[in-house]
Amino acid sequence: MGKRLEGKVAVITGGASGIGEAAAKLFAKHGARVIIADIQDERGTAICREFAPNISYVHYTLNNVTEESDVASAVDFAVAKHGKLDIMYNNAGITVPMRHASVLDSEKSHFEEVYAVNVFGAFLGAKHAARVMIQAKSGSIIFTSSASALTAVEFPISYASSKYAVIGLTNQLCLELGKHGIRVNCVSPFLIPTPMLGGAMGAAADEKAAAEWVAAAANLKGAVAETDDVAEAAVYLGSDESKYVSGMNMVVDGGYSKVNPMITMAMRGVRF
Ligand SMILES: NC(=O)c1ccc[n+]([C@@H]2O[C@H](COP(=O)([O-])OP(=O)(O)OC[C@H]3O[C@@H](n4cnc5c(N)ncnc54)[C@H](O)[C@@H]3O)[C@@H](O)[C@H]2O)c1
Repeated sequence: MGKRLEGKVAVITGGASGIGEAAAKLFAKHGARVIIADIQDERGTAICREFAPNISYVHYTLNNVTEESDVASAVDFAVAKHGKLDIMYNNAGITVPMRHASVLDSEKSHFEEVYAVNVFGAFLGAKHAARVMIQAKSGSIIFTSSASALTAVEFPISYASSKYAVIGLTNQLCLELGKHGIRVNCVSPFLIPTPMLGGAMGAAADEKAAAEWVAAAANLKGAVAETDDVAEAAVYLGSDESKYVSGMNMVVDGGYSKVNPMITMAMRGVRF
């Protein structure tokens, strides 16, 4: 495998699980020095152990993205350890359970909880990355939005709306940071069975049921959306292969957000 991130230094928030974990591993395989910033101490440390001693480039820092001082210290750790920060992947995210999907089942506290991580955390990551990247006059900031911010789906309204805000951050920062040579993009995945999705589904969340549910909802049949598919998109956005790509929302959803099968569903069984 060609090393597409050789020499790059990356901080990945939410890197101890799911999409972030897959990205941390793939980034390291591609030669990046990776700092996983997460609140799951055991998982973060275990991933670092898994990589040692062959890849000694993965570090873990206890980092709550809702705390500005934590986010600042993850960025400072990268610079102190490796002399720079090339890629800031603001990926940490949470949702409330599906039973809080509708507006009447949503509380203000759900919005506060979800926005604290998904929006404010992403903003803080971008802010502190910009602090060092502006000086370096280069860098790649990546966010994780969601297919649920491209087409309205019956998912918790607090979560889906937070992911629209992430696309807003991408667009605004693409403008502001472009003059400093910093690229800003985001990746919008389809449903992928991870602990976050399991938590959203609650009691309905055994792994097999989740996989069946996802497969039934998918537009693209045959292939199954996996964390590595999102990680591959992030590798591209972090690498020099995308050196003139900024302001893009890279949608990794098998075409889901482009299609609307409701007519077909309503007419199922109708003979023309
Ligand atoms: N899984 C999906 O179906 C799906 C679809 C679209 C978008 N996403 C987005 O992908 C991203 C990753 O989610 P995932 O599915 O891999 O979930 P996950 O639960 O497997 O991973 C999320 C990680 O974020 C960490 N995290 C949560 N709160 C944090 C905080 N305050 N500070 C630091 N880290 C924190 C968690 O500890 C966890 O390691 C999220 O932004 C999510 O919204 C997921």
